[in-house]
Amino acid sequence: MDVLPGIDPRAPLLDVTNLHVEFRTQYGVAKAVNGANFRLAPGETLAILGESGCGKSVTAQAIMGILDTPPGYVTQGEIRYRGVDLLKLTEEKRRKVRANRIAMIFQDALSSLNPVYTVGFQLGELFRKHRGMSRADAKKRSIDLLEQVKIPAARTRVDDYPHQFSGGMRQRVMIAMALALDPEVLIADEPTTALDVTVQAQIMGLLADLQQQRNMGLILITHDMGVVADVADRISVMYAGKVVEEAGIYDIYARPAHPYTKALLESIPRLDMKGQQLSVIQGLPPLLTDVPKGCAFNPRCRYARDACRQDPAPPAYAVAPNRTARCHFFREVIGE
Ligand SMILES: Nc1ncnc2c1ncn2[C@@H]1O[C@H](COP(=O)(O)OP(=O)(O)OP(=O)(O)O)[C@@H](O)[C@H]1O
Ligand SMILES: [Mg+2]
Repeated sequence: MDVLPGIDPRAPLLDVTNLHVEFRTQYGVAKAVNGANFRLAPGETLAILGESGCGKSVTAQAIMGILDTPPGYVTQGEIRYRGVDLLKLTEEKRRKVRANRIAMIFQDALSSLNPVYTVGFQLGELFRKHRGMSRADAKKRSIDLLEQVKIPAARTRVDDYPHQFSGGMRQRVMIAMALALDPEVLIADEPTTALDVTVQAQIMGLLADLQQQRNMGLILITHDMGVVADVADRISVMYAGKVVEEAGIYDIYARPAHPYTKALLESIPRLDMKGQQLSVIQGLPPLLTDVPKGCAFNPRCRYARDACRQDPAPPAYAVAPNRTARCHFFREVIGE
């Protein structure tokens, strides 16, 4: 593997600070990511949570360096991998990071696999291209990987085409592709939404196992608070392009500090509330070309007061060590 100059093994695995991404469209400038901050350690799972359109995938694309440009641009911030700011690298170096150090699984496995090549060929390509392996060795490694992601009869299935696999099995193939070059960071963007509930749980379990075996940092993007409870160590809750709350999983569930987090939690169906009205958050997230003044959540917030409707937006208050919330009234929210 090529050595990336400037790598500091003692620096945080991934450290995103003040990330801003905007899309310049004919309807105006959409501020999709508006000062996002988070950090990831080896072996840690960070869940990024939020409603549709809040900037989760765009954040992932910016980290991977696969943003749709134009119309999307990173306008501010740093994305440091082991101390190296990825945003300052040449495209060629960036591509190496993408292949070897930071990998991503997309929501839609079918459209990410090439229908005209066998799964084994697509996996083997990675080993041949990036590791200079022979065809035979690459095939051996591919079978190995398919076994690691628990595909039954890997030895014969390696010669099958993507359409011959079920949805869940295809997602396992995608996981195998993402892990092929032993990345230190894996970003999984809604890896299970296209699957039914039982298969979802199996895939999440597999991801968690593989992450532990490999001591990878995992960023799990989802809009489902129920999914993250079992696997995440920390959660970043995003709203309108900002991380509005970041905390350890236990704190978030026990005592949310941001009204938006609290509302998300209240919207999870619970068995002991059977028959009762499910609480949904009133209203819709704002258009990113037209974010409300002050706190972007204020029109939907039951705690909102004058201060919340005025600029500047609430800063990331330190609620406790390793815990922030962008709410002027976090003490009141957490205390309830
Ligand atoms: N290619 C694009 N062109 C223009 N605007 C875009 C583009 N991609 C994303 N955006 C803008 O960025 C915003 C955030 O999109 P993003 O895909 O990150 O949402 P998300 O949080 O991943 O939502 P979901 O849960 O639906 O996947 C969108 O609301 C949209 O305004
Ligand atoms: Mg998305």
